[in-house]
Amino acid sequence: MSDNSKMVVKRKHFRYRNIEDLRQEIAELGLTIRLADRVENLFQPVKIGHKTAGNAFGIHPMEGCDCTLDGKPSELTIRRWLRFGAGGAKLIWGEATAILEEAKANSRQLEINDYTANSIEQLLTLTRDKHKEIFGANEEVIVGMQLTHSGRYSYKKPLIAFRHPVVDKVTLVDKKKKIPIPEDYPILSDDELERLEDRYVEVAKLAYRIGFDFIDLKQCHTYLLNELLAAKTREGKYGGSFENRTRFIRNIIGKIRAEVGDGLILASRINVYDGIAYMPDPNTNIGMPRETPTPYPYGFGVDENNPPQPNMSEPIKLVGLMKDSGVKLVNASMGSPYYNPHIGRPFERPPIDGYETPEHPLVGVDRHFRLTADIQQAHPDLPIVGTGYSWLQNYVVNAGEANVQDGKVRFVAVGRGSMAYPDYVKDTMESGQMAKNKSCVAISYCTALMRAKDNPLHQFPSGCVPRDRFYAQIYKDAEKTLTQQ
Ligand SMILES: Cc1cc2nc3c(=O)[nH]c(=O)nc-3n(C[C@H](O)[C@H](O)[C@H](O)COP(=O)(O)O)c2cc1C
Repeated sequence: MSDNSKMVVKRKHFRYRNIEDLRQEIAELGLTIRLADRVENLFQPVKIGHKTAGNAFGIHPMEGCDCTLDGKPSELTIRRWLRFGAGGAKLIWGEATAILEEAKANSRQLEINDYTANSIEQLLTLTRDKHKEIFGANEEVIVGMQLTHSGRYSYKKPLIAFRHPVVDKVTLVDKKKKIPIPEDYPILSDDELERLEDRYVEVAKLAYRIGFDFIDLKQCHTYLLNELLAAKTREGKYGGSFENRTRFIRNIIGKIRAEVGDGLILASRINVYDGIAYMPDPNTNIGMPRETPTPYPYGFGVDENNPPQPNMSEPIKLVGLMKDSGVKLVNASMGSPYYNPHIGRPFERPPIDGYETPEHPLVGVDRHFRLTADIQQAHPDLPIVGTGYSWLQNYVVNAGEANVQDGKVRFVAVGRGSMAYPDYVKDTMESGQMAKNKSCVAISYCTALMRAKDNPLHQFPSGCVPRDRFYAQIYKDAEKTLTQQ
């Protein structure tokens, strides 16, 4: 927040007076996004394994960096989840929950262990109760826990699966002194990974005991399990071939099913495309690719010989493999919030540690929709949850409806949009559309709060500054704190 100048708007992309204006720009850009006039299909129930979600709307995992330092939900965490419960989406994908203290991405992340389990159980019960209070007891809401290991973005020190010639240079071992990963930095050994597999089984049991409908074995956003999928240059049994790179996920799926049984639904949020690393152009602050070697055997879903381009053959294969092993739900995401934020979260204004968008945000939305459709169409019998909708503001549901009609996705969920407008489903049920003045405007304050530099606790609680007065105040206070430092 101290370098607020980086958040100055250069161009305003979202300036549509109505749905026709947006359609026109989509056509001018030559994109394939379609917008439906009426929302119908999204209200139909969707089967996920042995359970049924009452509609096809979702809330993506959105952490608020607001848990207690010992990994329990705080009042703010509960507030966020209650708003999700009250919003009407029948798929609530719980936020990143670390499997170990050392695996947290920040000191305020949720953590699952014997000590935190009861508090997390209360969080779940309160959320379900809130949903029932508003929508009635018979309505089904499916809630999951996202199990995460932050890998190279673990807050105490990077825990890496392989040496990455581009990203290592910008992965800091000392954030204060800005010291990047040195040449001789160790990678996690096969033994350490095997022990982590066992930890996944232990926490899966806990999540099941607590009462979650599903667990997400998170393999996205370049955290550890995503990095393993891209570990083509790693030696040993977890690296190199596709078979080795998927060993970890195959092993944990097998072990969890053997120990927990099929009462617990297995899900996974995956990166279908990591992308390459970007940096701000020093003169314009517009994102530009960092120097990228070719061939590029360092990204999942990335064409090795033409690295900016996706190659969907392995992501499609991975989803097939997971489906055959018993995974019942997949959430398709992409990019790294740390080194190419425009890929995962098409934005109007950049996050504080980011850059101005190097492409029209609609191009990013279109990439999400196309690559997700590739997965959904290759596996039509597996429900896939789509990402990257929030930039569309009040037209999220029109695009989502069209994608469901066209068989390009099964669930439509919002990330940033859920902090701005958690009851977007309730409003769509009541009026057939979303309200413009409640929608996310994608100007990245939620990320700015998480990334506030020099704060001893690494960040402030995250929420929607433009749409939620509570967080507007937190942002004001955060600015004051930082200028006083
Ligand atoms: C403040 C913030 C917190 C997030 N927390 C998580 C998280 O806990 N787990 C996760 O998989 N993605 C997380 N994301 C990513 C979102 O779930 C989502 O993928 C992203 O915002 C793009 O979707 P959208 O266009 O609907 O916002 C977070 C994003 C933001 C901005």
